[in-house]
Amino acid sequence: MQAWFAQSKAQQVNWFTPMAFGRIGQALSAREIRELVSSDLEKVEREIHLESIASVDAVTAISKYLHGNGGKRLRPTLLLLCNKLVGETDEGAIRLAAVVEMIHTATLVHDDVIDYAQTRRGKPSANVLWGNHTCVLAGDWLYMQAFQAALRQRNFAILDILISLTQMMVEGELLQLERIGKIDITEGDYMQLVDRKTASLFSACARLGSLVAGAGEETESRLSDFAWNLGMAFQLIDDVLDFTSRESVLGKPVGNDLREGKVTLPLIYALTDASDEERQQVETVLRDSNYGRVGLDRILAMMERHKGVERARERARAFTAKAREIIATFPESPYQRALHTLTDLITDREY
Ligand code: IPE
Ligand code: IPE
Ligand code: MG
Ligand code: MG
Repeated sequence: MQAWFAQSKAQQVNWFTPMAFGRIGQALSAREIRELVSSDLEKVEREIHLESIASVDAVTAISKYLHGNGGKRLRPTLLLLCNKLVGETDEGAIRLAAVVEMIHTATLVHDDVIDYAQTRRGKPSANVLWGNHTCVLAGDWLYMQAFQAALRQRNFAILDILISLTQMMVEGELLQLERIGKIDITEGDYMQLVDRKTASLFSACARLGSLVAGAGEETESRLSDFAWNLGMAFQLIDDVLDFTSRESVLGKPVGNDLREGKVTLPLIYALTDASDEERQQVETVLRDSNYGRVGLDRILAMMERHKGVERARERARAFTAKAREIIATFPESPYQRALHTLTDLITDREY
């Protein structure tokens, strides 16, 4: 079984152990989270496994390859915690937790084709092994399989959420494509993108988890707002880690976003104070799509001078502070505490 306590080789540092985080208190809470959802996550893994069998071998192989290579299973964890916060977990919640992970996997398969990615979860990405054509179709198949599983709930509200969500995520990827290679991306443009490509899925996880628990509209909205803020922080940190981490920890290359033509928040902040010469260095990398003429070390030094990473981390912390504020409005319980802890895990993570 693969979950966040059984990671791929590149991610053997358990996402929920003290090694990944600095402070003891957090590590204990992290273990607490694991205990709260581990038996349900095992069921989710079984469900994903059953849903991943296609009549065409390549699709089954790609699906098994991706699910078998680790991944933090953050979205099903979030869905289950929100579900347990307001009710009892039944087979509908388990199925939807599998559905959101399958949607996540489908977006990653397509994202890696779009980004010409070479590595995912510390292994060659699916597009490298099976090629773009097969991966586009396998991603489509995974989306449809996720919808088919969701349809078994016979609940239009669920389909409504999932269809709007998928359209949002596709819009996010399209907006990103439009902006590839452009240096003049504003903070507002960036936030709009992150809202669509990442925060929307987090938000949908919370809404689905609370919806199937019968929480009612007000609670659903509050939890989806909580998760949206968490998702925003998550992508901001992903973009920070792209500059600050190491490939062996991250499971994907460092400095990749800029090489792919993506100007993300740490760079947007640094560019607001950069000299003409520093700006030109960034332009050069964007034009060349490599660090041959201007090394990543020079870009990092420039970002350091203008506190790009520091300011992006601060912005991420503002999102998690908002998330904590929202979760604090729920009565205290182990699930409420777990969701609270999740906000720290997301800002302090190393991958
Ligand atoms: C990767 O998500 C895509 C982003 C939204 C940054 P995760 O970092 O949750 O990916 P896995 O599932 O753990 O590999
Ligand atoms: C996140 O975008 C992918 C989706 C939300 C579909 P990125 O392109 O930043 O994700 P990584 O860095 O490839 O994991
Ligand atoms: Mg990508
Ligand atoms: Mg990224």
